[in-house]
Amino acid sequence: MTRHEPNFTLRSDSAKTHVFVEPDALDYIGKWVSRDRTPPVVVVLSDTTVADLYGEQMLKSLASHCPNSELITVPPGDQSKSLSHLDDIYGKLGRLRVPRDGMLLALGGGVITDLTGFAAATWMRGIDYANCPTTLEADVDASLGGKTGINHASGKNMVGAFHHPRFVAVDTTCLKTLPARDIAAGLAESIKHALISDASFLDWHQQNASAIRAVETDVMSELVTKNLRIKASVVEQDEKESGIRACLNFGHTIGHAVEKLSNYALRHGEAVAVGMVAAAHLSMQKGLLDSKAIARIRSVLESFDLPTIAENLKPAAIIETTLGDKKVKAGKRQWVLLNGIGAFTITDDVSDSMIESAVQEICPT
Ligand SMILES: NC(=O)c1ccc[n+]([C@@H]2O[C@H](COP(=O)([O-])OP(=O)(O)OC[C@H]3O[C@@H](n4cnc5c(N)ncnc54)[C@H](O)[C@@H]3O)[C@@H](O)[C@H]2O)c1
Ligand SMILES: [Zn+2]
Repeated sequence: MTRHEPNFTLRSDSAKTHVFVEPDALDYIGKWVSRDRTPPVVVVLSDTTVADLYGEQMLKSLASHCPNSELITVPPGDQSKSLSHLDDIYGKLGRLRVPRDGMLLALGGGVITDLTGFAAATWMRGIDYANCPTTLEADVDASLGGKTGINHASGKNMVGAFHHPRFVAVDTTCLKTLPARDIAAGLAESIKHALISDASFLDWHQQNASAIRAVETDVMSELVTKNLRIKASVVEQDEKESGIRACLNFGHTIGHAVEKLSNYALRHGEAVAVGMVAAAHLSMQKGLLDSKAIARIRSVLESFDLPTIAENLKPAAIIETTLGDKKVKAGKRQWVLLNGIGAFTITDDVSDSMIESAVQEICPT
């Protein structure tokens, strides 16, 4: 691979997303933005925490390639994925006269990639954008695949659009400033990708555990690339989630309930870790997974300081809350189950008593 060339490209009916993973990717953003054409205006959207850390580096990288570049910020946190912040952003895009061939750049975690993607999907009926993720959650998951959106009183991620970024550029050095808890939360999605698609990738997590815990840049670059390749291959097969893309929701049905019931005190990835343990137990009840595999899943999650039980939550409340999951089809919950480690199956053929006993497993009394 020539340096500063894409590691790979996601190609589907409506996407052609180049993926760059490099320890100094932020220094090459200007080059990548102007790869095919130079947008007349580039607006970088970030949160104030990330902008303080990396905003200047980003603007410097853009300066020589795209002289008309601006940085706008929102406060950090999921509350910024809101209609009122989006309204502010539209106002700023208007004042900056961002035209149809202008471009937005997301610099931040999943909140910023979701918000920027949705702003780009809707501004002037859709303009180009690219993602420069800075959290592990966004590096391995949120930055690729075209799902964009904001929250609404009716639910999290309730308003959104499919709109693919032109490129994703992951600067793995940014992970050095990310708190350990956010590294662990991102690792839950990485372990999810391994569990549904590649048993040898689970081995890899165990073999490289100490380098991962130390956030060593080379190993993190390898981890991110492996994850984005897995995600790309799923999205290429089922862009709009009419079928197998749902496998990416492994652990999320119960995970979302646990996340909500914790009043979002748990990170998304932490709740997904708990949800994956419950989904693994459900898989065992369907005869698809053995107890040794479950013990291994728990031990890998725990080795990265991820929770495997839902502390202080009642099983009945978790089950009740999963009914509100927006992936419920015609009143039936779709369950992503493991078919051994490294393979999955999607089914609605799961009885209430199986769900109850799987949820009991994550709610010890
Ligand atoms: N679209 C998708 O496919 C998809 C997939 C997964 C998650 N998501 C969304 O992603 C969001 C969660 O993403 P997240 O966990 O990245 O949250 P986030 O964007 O809120 O980032 C977490 C915190 O880390 C800070 N931060 C970011 N990068 C940093 C860095 N390098 N150093 C220090 N601090 C840094 C941020 O300021 C923020 O406070 C949710 O809204 C979720 O719905 C979307
Ligand atoms: Zn997730």
